This record gives sequence, structure tokens and C-alpha cells, in this order.
Amino acid sequence: MKTEQLLPRQAYFEEAWYQREVQDLFSQSWIYAAPSTALEQVGDYVTLRFMDYSLFVIRDSEGELQAYHNLCRHRGCEILEDAGNCGTSLVCPYHRWTYRAEDGALRGVPNEGECFTDLDRADLSLIAASVGTYAGLVFVNPSATPADSFAQWIANMDDHLWPHSLTDGSLSFSGEVVYEMHCNWKVFYENAIDGYHLGYLHDQTLGKVYPDRNVWDTVGRHHVWYSTEWAGEKRSNTKLSVAGADAYSTPTLHPHEQATYPGVVMLFPLTILSPSPWGFYVSILEPKGPELTMMRTLAWSPGGQGGRFRFDAESVQTVRLVDLEQHPMESGNFQIEDMWIVEKVQRNIRSPLYQVGPLATGTGAESPLTEFQQHVMHFLG
Ligand code: FES
Repeated sequence: MKTEQLLPRQAYFEEAWYQREVQDLFSQSWIYAAPSTALEQVGDYVTLRFMDYSLFVIRDSEGELQAYHNLCRHRGCEILEDAGNCGTSLVCPYHRWTYRAEDGALRGVPNEGECFTDLDRADLSLIAASVGTYAGLVFVNPSATPADSFAQWIANMDDHLWPHSLTDGSLSFSGEVVYEMHCNWKVFYENAIDGYHLGYLHDQTLGKVYPDRNVWDTVGRHHVWYSTEWAGEKRSNTKLSVAGADAYSTPTLHPHEQATYPGVVMLFPLTILSPSPWGFYVSILEPKGPELTMMRTLAWSPGGQGGRFRFDAESVQTVRLVDLEQHPMESGNFQIEDMWIVEKVQRNIRSPLYQVGPLATGTGAESPLTEFQQHVMHFLG
């Protein structure tokens, strides 16, 4: 496949294009919801908001995970809050309509005989969503019948499976950071799968990871990244990141001496996993509009201790470039370097003179961008 820009520049700022993505792509996208440890017991549930959807996942009385829209069929109230255990009943707090977790069926309506003459319960079940679990991570999809089933979506990932477990006690939750980025979500995604920029923009933070020293492997619609600095062997970390972790005495998982698993797993379109010898990160992109993207990053580390980039387990920190006291390139944080660069690109996309030039060919360069854009176009027809 020829490495080239496929999407027009309008795809990166136009409201109409964004609304097509909302309608045709995000409405049937798999996104990370929770670690499976949050949903072990019957009645355990988690809620989440994704785009305009309010969703929840619950473990039913038969031990199966179910996902529904968190939307009462009476007058639309959210049924569940936050996370917890609701036993076997799903009770809307407004007028106490009650639903069954196993199939979403409406099973209880207070004063039904007095207040409703022709209520058709069969028409008033909870609206189903979809759920799937992989490697201790629960994913949800707002569609009950997504174009990619969960099995199709995650197929062949076993060849790149990371050894991290959120269930065996080796990792503890160490906090959440939200990055506010004034760019289209695709500008950020394309930067993330661009191996060409690593050795230049990030030479001080990730090292001299030139296009022949890293690789993006294609797995279905996804891309997984490895450093190949280590005599060509594929590993999760760069030599500079190992030196940085040593310098900061970052707690290390054992046995991870070789770390022959990917360092980044880009799960199309909005979930990013970052396994490393020092922890496990899950990032969820939340497009808020054509030119605003939030990214929630959740961190797990040995003993819940953050490393060089400390997370506060008690509060959620929001990172904005305007709040920085130093230049982003002096932050020593590759994530902030990326924020700086994607906003610089986004500001120019509206220019009538903006045009993408030749892309660098290679799986450690910009070839993954073309594949990503093909997947976007697949959903948008
Ligand atoms: Fe839920 Fe009325 S809105 S019972």
C-alpha cells in the first residue's frame, strides 16, 4: 500500500465531518470501560459517559457481563451512578421502574394498574449496548450490533499480549490525569502512530528512536509499537527510557528484564494501552468537538507508586499547555511534547495554504497513518 495522506484537511476541523464520525464511527466504537476487577461479583457495576452516551456494565446473576445504556425508558433518568454493587435489581431512582440485569427487561412499575392503562413492557426494556473482556480489561460499545464484533475487533492481539495483570495484586491503581488538547482527535492519533517523529521531537525524552529503530505492527484495525533499538529485538521500552527509570529509581515489575511486549497498543479508534516494566497505562481519547480532544490516562504501577511522572491517586489532574510554567520542550515529558506539537499542527490546518506533503514510508515511519485513515474512511463510507 502506498504511504499517502488520504483524508482531506476538512476532516480535521469541519463540524459536518465530525458529526459523521459521531454518527457512523463513534456510535459503534469499542472503548475501555473498567478493569475486570471492578466487576467480579454479581451486581457489581460501573458507569461511564462516552460522547453523548451514558452507559453501564453490570455482572448479572448468572455471572455474565451485560452492558446497557444508562437511560430509563420512562422519562430518561440515569439509573445507576458511579460504580458499586446494586444487587440483582436495577431501580431507577426517579419513579422506581425496575429492570432485570440479565436481559434489561422491565419487570416493575409502581402503581401500574392505577396509572397506566396500556403499558407494553416488552417495548420498554433497557437499550442494550455491547461488552467484551480482554486481558482483564472490560470494553464497551454503545451499539448492540456493532460492525466489528468484539471477537473481530480484538482478533490476533494474542500475538502481542503483554504480561501485565490488574487482578493478581502486582499492580495497584496509582491515579488519573486528563490532558486537554486543542486538536482534532485524528491529529493526536496520527501523531501517536507516527514513528518518524520519535527520534527528533522526543530525542531528549525517548531517545534517538529513528525510523529504523522502532516498528508499528498492524493487528486488524490496531497498531502495536515496539522499540527495535535492542539489536533488532522488539521490546516495549527505549534505551533512554530505561536509563531514565534507573535514574529515578522507578519501581520495576518482575520479571520484566527483557520486556519483549509492545510499549504502545493503539486500539482503534480511541483506546491506547501502554505496558512497560514500570506499570500499565490506559488512555481513552474523548473527542469533544472537531478541534478539542480530552485524553484520560489511568495508571497502575507496582504498589501504586508512580515513577518519574507521578500521578495523584486522590485527585484527577488536568494538564493544559497554557498552565505550564516552562516551555513544553523543557517539561521532560514526551506526552507534553506531543500536546505542544499537535496543537501547533491543528492551528495551521484551517489555513487555505495547508497541505500534507509526502509521508515517510515505513512501519517505523508514517505508513501507519495511511492504514489508520483507511479505517476511518471505512466507517464513514
Ligand atoms: Fe425512571 Fe421515571 S424516569 S422511573
